[in-house]
Amino acid sequence: MGLAVIAIDFGTSNSTVGLTSPQGPRLIPLEQGNLTIPSAIFFNLEDDKVQFGREAIAAYTNHYDGRLLRSLKSVLGSSLIDESTEIGHERISLKDIIGKFLAHLKALAQQAAGKELEDVVIGRPVCFVDDDARLDQLAQQQLESIAKACGFKQVHFQYEPIAAALDYESSVSREEMALIADIGGGTSDFSVVRVSPQARRRSDRRSDILANTGVHVGGTDFDKWLSLGQVMPHLGYKTHYRKRGELELPSSPYFDLATWHRISLLYGKKTASELKEMHLLAGQPDLVHRLLRVVRERSGHQLASDVESAKIALSSAADVRISLPYVDEHLVVPVNSRDFEQRVAALTEKIGQCIRDCVRSAGISVEQIDTLFLTGGTSSLNFVRDACASAVPQARLVEGDKFASVGLGLAIEAGVLRARS
Ligand SMILES: Nc1ncnc2c1ncn2[C@@H]1O[C@H](COP(=O)(O)OP(=O)(O)OP(=O)(O)O)[C@@H](O)[C@H]1O
Ligand SMILES: [Mg+2]
Repeated sequence: MGLAVIAIDFGTSNSTVGLTSPQGPRLIPLEQGNLTIPSAIFFNLEDDKVQFGREAIAAYTNHYDGRLLRSLKSVLGSSLIDESTEIGHERISLKDIIGKFLAHLKALAQQAAGKELEDVVIGRPVCFVDDDARLDQLAQQQLESIAKACGFKQVHFQYEPIAAALDYESSVSREEMALIADIGGGTSDFSVVRVSPQARRRSDRRSDILANTGVHVGGTDFDKWLSLGQVMPHLGYKTHYRKRGELELPSSPYFDLATWHRISLLYGKKTASELKEMHLLAGQPDLVHRLLRVVRERSGHQLASDVESAKIALSSAADVRISLPYVDEHLVVPVNSRDFEQRVAALTEKIGQCIRDCVRSAGISVEQIDTLFLTGGTSSLNFVRDACASAVPQARLVEGDKFASVGLGLAIEAGVLRARS
């Protein structure tokens, strides 16, 4: 018997941890019995401790003094990875913050396994970075070195959609050609895989994997465009300077506020003075005052989270009203699904195109796909599901466990690696 291998699905929005056990692969409870943990970390300056997941979000929501960071996977492969953020009197690099989160997952797994775990298989998107193989490779190297700094000795990577395929395969009763679609918080990833009950026992699956494609589009992008399109204008986005003709105010603070992994960058002293100046020169200072208030009171994640909830609510309602008293006492912002879907139509089209590219590079016809297996939280959006289904219209649609499939598949992979070692 080889050494235990731990499986980590480090997601942009949510993470899971898997282990293999005599009963088979399983996800371990990470927070009060929950098998998922939000990929969130809170530096609690009041109580001088670091908190993770739901506990981190609750501490932030309950206005503890400190700093919340989320969606940090998105900085891998970008120049932000080496940036540091002010936390109290210290500066901490985003790389070290990801390290703290992974170390927390490692500690929870070790507690569950009752021993030190040094081998890990980590899921990765097909493309951390679109259209740049060098940066994509760099992103994986960064994640590997962060994992090694946490004490892992062997770090294996597996594509997230292949992991989801392994999970799906555990339920099939005959050979099928499956298109696996994992539409998450940061990326959308696809694989064409031949799955079968017999193939489950083989350790080398290369001949069954026909193609992988991915694109850096996920739920956090939908949040961003909903925010920029329908919420940020209430905070002065796209308004003008008072005296400079038609010149618009800078858009970058609004982009940062609408982008999960950039919110914390707004909280430095330099930005505070730039925003004050912008307020003084603004044509509609009452709106820009709201932006200043959100930044001053560190409500950026609250706002992003309220926009995200509205996005989810728009799945089942044409109109949703977002109440934002922490932006302005009586502010209620209406958002609607038609406008939202139009604004993100180009992103949705990228998802559909990426599926068609996957089938094409598999060298098979669309008709040969038997099953479309959907996982990832963003596959809950009706129009995203429709875009996927219309790329392989005759395929049978199977919906997996949206938040567990990738982690369970990585745990299957961990079992294979353990048997080999
Ligand atoms: N019911 C829902 N309707 C629409 N979107 C949803 C729903 N539930 C969750 N989401 C979105 O799903 C995303 C998170 O999905 P998931 O946990 O699969 O991502 P992830 O694995 O963390 O990200 P990635 O794999 O891209 O790194 C978030 O953007 C969230 O807003
Ligand atoms: Mg995921």
